[in-house]
Amino acid sequence: MDTIKKTENFVFQTYMRQGKAFVKGQGQFLWDEDGKKYTDFLAGIAVCSLGHCHPMITEAINEQAQTLLHVSNLFYTPPQAALAADLCEKSFADRIFFSNSGAEANEAAIKLARRYFQKNGEKNRYKIITMKQSFHGRTMATLTATGQDKIKDGFYPILEGFSYVSFNDIDALKNELDKTVCAVMLEPIQGEGGIIPADETYLKAVRKLCNDTGTLLIFDEIQCGLGRCGKLFAHELYGVTPDIMTLAKALGNGLPIGAMLATEDAAKGFDYGSHASTFGGNPLVTAVAREVVNIISEPSFLNDVEQKGQYFRNALIKLTQNHSRAVSVRGKGLLIGLEVDTDATFFVSGLMKKGFIINGIQDKVLRFAPPLIIEKNDIDRLIEALDSLL
Ligand SMILES: Cc1ncc(COP(=O)(O)O)c(C=O)c1O
Repeated sequence: MDTIKKTENFVFQTYMRQGKAFVKGQGQFLWDEDGKKYTDFLAGIAVCSLGHCHPMITEAINEQAQTLLHVSNLFYTPPQAALAADLCEKSFADRIFFSNSGAEANEAAIKLARRYFQKNGEKNRYKIITMKQSFHGRTMATLTATGQDKIKDGFYPILEGFSYVSFNDIDALKNELDKTVCAVMLEPIQGEGGIIPADETYLKAVRKLCNDTGTLLIFDEIQCGLGRCGKLFAHELYGVTPDIMTLAKALGNGLPIGAMLATEDAAKGFDYGSHASTFGGNPLVTAVAREVVNIISEPSFLNDVEQKGQYFRNALIKLTQNHSRAVSVRGKGLLIGLEVDTDATFFVSGLMKKGFIINGIQDKVLRFAPPLIIEKNDIDRLIEALDSLL
């Protein structure tokens, strides 16, 4: 039985897969079972930012695999300590909790925000406001936080104490924010919602509103963070810092790791025993993540992402000028959405036939989230292929 048949027969059918089995990756390229080569413009959904099998990542995996894989968080380990110190040094944060995925990082953020107030006797301050069209994960708390009904279908009753407001609408947030709200949670650039960046004035106003009311501000940078948008963290584009931020995806370049970062003040919400994870931040994933963060945070690397993103977006904008079926271009850095006037699957499968991997979101948006090491000539080739499909 082949890979596709076995997967369909024995794995839960929760994913609508694109009908290809991949066996090898190198840099920005992937190879399927038949040996056909593809240029990857998705990077495993914004995960393999340094490309597939980056030599320094492979070396970090090998080295740590021969040293120590796991001892649990009952003990200290050098890679976890080093990664935490590096991330704090490069961000607004003072403390980090390590998880294994994005959803778990968001779970930790939600728990921290609630406990921050409940610990101080503010038992009624537990509500969390999130954005319509947001995506925060698939656990019960994070699917509740997610502002899309389709993600909640069949899972009711969902958690109590969440409400949803329109993104980029400060009045809507003002109307919802009262003394029962412990946190506002948002993606600075909505990913699954269709690649929708926050407006700068909006994000600044959200920060001010949270300051004025003593509400915690949580940024979910699981998709838009870690260099994807041309800065180490997307909120740097806006000059607005959160109290709590979540990361995952690109942090391990393919190894499963998430992180919840917080200021010293927000971190007071957790004490010994408040939260835990068996695997969270184990030596293997943190040794690798440290390498990832060190490479991505180089200013020349980030400048390159910004320049290639601009180049890519300009080329897509040209397509919208020449083809009525290409409607609009959104995004920052190398997290880019092209809205089309028809079902995205037409373009996803058309591009796959031509040797390019992308995916579709919200029915009519093509998402481009290539490895950040993608080259201009790869972008030119993709644009040419898309041009002929349009
Ligand atoms: C913004 C955002 N938050 C959270 C998640 C959930 O991450 P994970 O799938 O690692 O649980 C995702 C995944 O797509 C995401 O894009």
